[in-house]
Amino acid sequence: MPAPPVSPPRLRAVLFDAYGTLFDVYSVAHLAEQLFPGQGERLAQLWRDKQIEYSRLVTMSSAGAEHYRPFWQVTRDALRWSMARLALPREGDAEQQLMNQYHHLSAFPENREVLAELQRRGVTAGILSNGDPEMLGVAVKSAGFAELLSGPVLSVHSVRRFKTDPAAYALGPATLGLPVRDILFVSSNAWDAIGATWFGYTTLWVNRAGAPPEELGTSPTHIGTSLRDVLTLLPGGAAG
Ligand code: LAC
Repeated sequence: MPAPPVSPPRLRAVLFDAYGTLFDVYSVAHLAEQLFPGQGERLAQLWRDKQIEYSRLVTMSSAGAEHYRPFWQVTRDALRWSMARLALPREGDAEQQLMNQYHHLSAFPENREVLAELQRRGVTAGILSNGDPEMLGVAVKSAGFAELLSGPVLSVHSVRRFKTDPAAYALGPATLGLPVRDILFVSSNAWDAIGATWFGYTTLWVNRAGAPPEELGTSPTHIGTSLRDVLTLLPGGAAG
């Protein structure tokens, strides 16, 4: 017997990844370049890659949460390693300046209008991030997003396991009280969009950098190039 047709998801809420999706993590490269001329891009890239590597390592190596450390600490540890890798001087306050900059990352230019439009349409919009609550709170406030997000700002800190661990993604449907496929999860990080797809979310990968799709045998549900693509997928949009 053929399987009964599966009805399409009814998207009722959106959860955004924070770092790289709402906040431009590579905006620290400008400051890094001022501090270390000729090395800014490389430092920003190494820093980001090491931060994500450490987040995965501490989660994968923990049966519970024994190796967990908050994302702020992971971020500082990753910066120290990256500066050492490039043989950059530790004396002076470069580390502190870069960490302060990370606290106040720029938002991508289109994000404000997208969040405002979601609010106008009455769509629940929140965040699901590896960031710890303190750093997320500062970032959301300094980008002026606090009054635009009607949904929860969810931090994996409550489960002490980083994405792509299922316990991290489970926070979304558990908090929103919605079936996971009715939540649109939006990330600019391909690995995060794939992890969320595996978990069961409807996903949008915002491929800002024009990266090739991951070779993991799974595609995000949707692929776009800017956060504006969210608007075509939610009620009130061209496809809604
Ligand atoms: C986050 C990182 C992974 O905000 O971008 O969860």
